[in-house]
Amino acid sequence: MKLPQTVTIVEVGARDGLQNEEPVSTNTKIRLINLLSDTGLTHIEAGSFVSPKWVPQMADSLEVMNAMTRRSNVIYSALTPNLQGLEQALKAGANQVAIFTSCSEGFCQHNINCSIAESLQRFEPIMEVAAKHNIPVRGYLSCVVDCPYDGPTHPTQVAKVAKSLIDLGCYQVSLGDTIGSGTPTRIARMLEAVQAAIPTHQLAVHFHDTWGQALANIYQALTMGIDTIDSSVAGLGGCPYAHGASGNVATEDVLYLCQGLGIETGVDLELLTKAGWMISDELNRQPTSKVSQALRHRTDPYTS
Ligand code: HMG
Ligand code: MG
Repeated sequence: MKLPQTVTIVEVGARDGLQNEEPVSTNTKIRLINLLSDTGLTHIEAGSFVSPKWVPQMADSLEVMNAMTRRSNVIYSALTPNLQGLEQALKAGANQVAIFTSCSEGFCQHNINCSIAESLQRFEPIMEVAAKHNIPVRGYLSCVVDCPYDGPTHPTQVAKVAKSLIDLGCYQVSLGDTIGSGTPTRIARMLEAVQAAIPTHQLAVHFHDTWGQALANIYQALTMGIDTIDSSVAGLGGCPYAHGASGNVATEDVLYLCQGLGIETGVDLELLTKAGWMISDELNRQPTSKVSQALRHRTDPYTS
C-alpha cells in the first residue's frame, strides 16, 4: 500500500462551516480567514455567492473577500451556482470558483432547485466566463454515498456525474459524502468506480463527519492515492439542505492523521488549532476536533 507523500488541504470552514452555523459578524469571518492564511494552508474557500434568501449566512461574502488580507501563496475560492454568483466572485477577486451539483436528483432539487441535467447546463456559461478570466473551476459533487431524499447512490452514478463535471472543464471534482454516512468499504467501491473514469489527481474527497466515519474514510481514500482533502477548521458546519448533517471532518484531525502517517501538508497544526478556538469561542461552542481538545488540555510533559 502506497500513501501519497504530500496532501493538499482545502480549508472549507469559512464557507461550508459558517454557512450552517449561527451567523457571525463580517469582521469575525475576516479574522478567521486571516488566521487561516497564516497557517500554511494553500487553499481557503472564503465565501459563497448564492442566493442570500437561501443561505443568509453567506450574504456578506463580497465584503469578506474584499477586506481579508491575502497571501500570494494562497488560493481564495468561492461557490458560484450561476452566472450571477460568478459575477460577484469576480468582483470579490476570487482566485478560483466552484460549481456544485449532486449525483442524486432529490438533493439537487432541494439544494439548487433544478435537476442534475439542468444544473450541468447552467454551468456551461459559468465555465465560459471563468475561462475568459483565467479562473480555474472546481466541481463539487454531493451525495456520493447516500442522499437524504433518495437513499443510497450507486457508484456508477457518481462516476457518471463526476465525469460530466470534468468534461465541462473542472480541473478537479470534490466527492462529497454530504450526510457522512459512508464507511470505508462503500467509499472504496465508490472511488474505484470514479477512478475508472477520471485520473486520481483530479479527485478530492469531502467528507462530513455525521456518523464519525470521516477519518476512517479519509484513510481509505489515501490508500487509494487521493491527495486532496477538504476539511473544516474546528469541524464547523453542516449543510443547510441535508437535515441533521454535521460539519466536515475537522482540519486539525486530518493534520494529525497526516503527521502520523508521515504525509506532508505544509500546515501548522498549532496555528490552525488557535484559529479553530477563536471561531469556536465566537460561536460559543467547542471544536468537534478531538485533536484540538487534546492539544488545549495537554500539559505537555516534554516542554513544560
Ligand atoms: P432559484 O430560486 O431557483 O433561482 O435559486 P432564480 O434564478 O429563480 O433566482 C431567485 C432569486 O435568487 C432571485 O432574486 C435572484 O436574483 C436570486 P429575487 O428576484 O427573488 O429577489 N439569486 C441570487 N442572488 C445572489 N447570488 C446569486 C443568485 N442567484 C439567484 N448567485 C439558486 C437557485 C442556485 C440561486 C439557489 O437555489 C441557491 O442559492 N442555492 C444555494 C444552496 C447552497 O448554497 N447550498 C449550500 C452549498 S452546497 C453544499 O454545502 C454541499 C458541498 O459542501 C458538498 C457536499 O458537502 O456535498 C459543496
Ligand atoms: Mg459540504
